[in-house]
Amino acid sequence: MGWLSSIFWAFWYILPAYVANASPVLVGGGRPIDGGRTWRDGRRILGDGKTWRGFIGGVAIGTLVGAVQYFITPCFYGSFSTAVKLAFLLSFGALFGDLVGSFFKRRANLPRGAPAIGLDQLGFLISALAFAYPVKTLSSGQIIFLLVVSPFVHWGANYFAYRMGWKNVPW
Ligand code: CTP
Ligand code: MG
Repeated sequence: MGWLSSIFWAFWYILPAYVANASPVLVGGGRPIDGGRTWRDGRRILGDGKTWRGFIGGVAIGTLVGAVQYFITPCFYGSFSTAVKLAFLLSFGALFGDLVGSFFKRRANLPRGAPAIGLDQLGFLISALAFAYPVKTLSSGQIIFLLVVSPFVHWGANYFAYRMGWKNVPW
């Protein structure tokens, strides 16, 4: 595989995780997953930025992306069920990792929306890759590539969402 096609397939593979992580900005809101409850340190478990609608909506949209991807590149996935399973695990993994990140941010006394460099940009990605691992994997070179470029994709996407008026902060 040439390096350019390696890069393309790495992005193609991870796309459902990116979409799942980004879509709660648009579809989220309503009841927070922690139900407003606090941890033993007296601070919120996850905070108001993590809602059921965002989580379920993000997993659904990310999974849908995988279903569409199958019809564009069926050979990459082998079967429709593999494509959907992979996209579901990438999306669920991304949003689960996002929740774990928020849990640690709250423990560090960071308010909702405060930036946590590293955790915000890579937590969802590492979790998505781990969940998807049993179904389909990338080469180690492709994984390193995604770890390096994803923070920039994340910053770019968040800046775009901020400029569109979807978010209050550009990170
Ligand atoms: N969001 C949501 N449900 C989720 C994840 C995100 O509704 N499970 C929405 C919230 O409106 C959130 C926005 O998407 O404010 C941006 O997500 P993110 O940056 O992950 O949340 P933050 O507000 O920064 O909260 P935290 O400090 O906990 O990361
Ligand atoms: Mg944030």
